[in-house]
Amino acid sequence: MKKFFTYCAIPVATICSLYLGFSTTSAHAGDIKKIYKDTCELCHGPDGKGSEAGKQFGVPDFTNADYQKSRTDADMKKSMTEGTKNPNYVKLSDLGVDAADLDPLIKVVRAFGGK
Ligand code: HEC
Repeated sequence: MKKFFTYCAIPVATICSLYLGFSTTSAHAGDIKKIYKDTCELCHGPDGKGSEAGKQFGVPDFTNADYQKSRTDADMKKSMTEGTKNPNYVKLSDLGVDAADLDPLIKVVRAFGGK
């Protein structure tokens, strides 16, 4: 039996895909991660649980399954485009986010919930 030492490649690929989120095949995966990092992390944190500042603003914990279930994509999009009752939450267009990036950003947010 021949042994192929290909297993070294697997952890590298895994780390890369974890870093980029789930759909690494999407051409925009890297860009979206960058937008998230540059624009959202400040409040939502690198892990989606919310930064210290974000928690004071009242951000939801994106890793919480109950939260994820409580909001449809349409609900999230509405909050993202119109803002919410929470005065600390500004609509994302005010942060310079392109409307076309909202759906991919929702996927990033869903990915924190394991979906
Ligand atoms: C200045 C802090 C801040 C920044 C920056 C920020 N958010 Fe938020 N975000 C909040 C707060 C506060 C809430 C909670 C609003 C509420 O519960 O009414 C929230 C809620 C959300 C929600 C949930 C909306 C819902 O209906 O449940 C999503 C999705 C979201 N943010 C996405 C993003 C994305 C994507 C970015 C980056 C483009 C971003 N946010 C940047 C503060 C921020």
